[in-house]
Amino acid sequence: PPLDRILNLRDMEAVAFQILSSKANAYYSSASDDEISLTENARSFSRFFFHPRVMRPVARCDPSTRILGFKSSIPVFASGAALAKLGHPEGEANITRGAAQTGIIQMVSFNSSLSYSEIMSAATSSQALFFQLYKQTDSISEQRIREIEALGYKAIFLTVDAIVIGNREKAVRNAWELEDEEKGVAPYWYDNDASKKSSGVVAAAGVRSITSDKDLDLSWEKTIPWLRSITKLPVVIKGIQCIEDAVIAVEAGVDGILLSNHGGRQLDYSLPPIEVLYRLRLRRPDVFEKVEVYIDGGIRRGTDVVKALCLGATAVGLGRSFLYAQSAYGEAGVVRIVKILRREILTAMRLLGASTVADLRPDMVVSFTPKVS
Ligand code: FNR
Repeated sequence: PPLDRILNLRDMEAVAFQILSSKANAYYSSASDDEISLTENARSFSRFFFHPRVMRPVARCDPSTRILGFKSSIPVFASGAALAKLGHPEGEANITRGAAQTGIIQMVSFNSSLSYSEIMSAATSSQALFFQLYKQTDSISEQRIREIEALGYKAIFLTVDAIVIGNREKAVRNAWELEDEEKGVAPYWYDNDASKKSSGVVAAAGVRSITSDKDLDLSWEKTIPWLRSITKLPVVIKGIQCIEDAVIAVEAGVDGILLSNHGGRQLDYSLPPIEVLYRLRLRRPDVFEKVEVYIDGGIRRGTDVVKALCLGATAVGLGRSFLYAQSAYGEAGVVRIVKILRREILTAMRLLGASTVADLRPDMVVSFTPKVS
């Protein structure tokens, strides 16, 4: 269908489902076990309602914000998601160019199918790109960080919720393998790094782990000071799933936390991020004064974004939506979904009586969540 018939992010997803190969589809859409977290990530937004304020001037309405100091036209970024080339030959560069056109920030996956340098080459000179890191051995990771620093990446999102790979049966049923000869798509580093030949490549539920030499012994005591000692880039922890760890992360001195269950692909039944955010806001409002808080998982509407901002998030990430959009329409698809989100966010803000993101407050959201301790 022509792009102007795509009215929302679910329409875009439906087009992608039609054009993607069954393997690509299985990889992008899969989640772990019974996919309860995947389903609930999206559905949990329906447990939060608005408490709109009226008669507030909203003729001028500005949804822009800053993420780690970098301008973003709307409070939305692309979360790092692997292997964009499975869906489109230009892969991650579609997201980079679409992000440039619309003024949003892309977090580049460690397992991107284009090289980190190819992706940076697709960016404009003023465009900020963030880098998502999986920690390997200290020395390999230090090399990687030097590489992305030199290329000009502006922040590191250290993913901590994927120590081992979740049990994704859709992927297994589709005999999904990293080295998909048919399509020739693999993480760029995987083909270009001798370390892949080491014994670190493990079978996980029939799917090869996409990170060999992964450090399974991450710890607050070791890993954060190590990271701080080798880079001055801002550090965000991606994959915080409870209040306790959010507090520990703040104490460890990180710059931000991304509440995420990896789009339901890791531990099934981990709480949807909007629920974690709600509880964090309720119990530890101090956290929001010390670090930037983001969420990702299941965000498909402007109202989802606005709910998260009301509850204290600085911005939200989307993973699959960007993969689907670039698969279906390349760069133009990416531009389309950002424009859709922008329009939906503006409408929601105006109808809530908010003219800037700072006007979005916790008392504008009502939860139907049962009270839990
Ligand atoms: C991911 N995600 C992910 N996260 C990460 O830190 N490194 C990675 O390489 C990947 N790869 C990846 C591939 C695919 C196909 C998906 C769907 C997801 C997780 C991603 O960053 C993000 O947390 C979720 O995608 C957010 O959920 P939604 O927006 O997809 O519902």
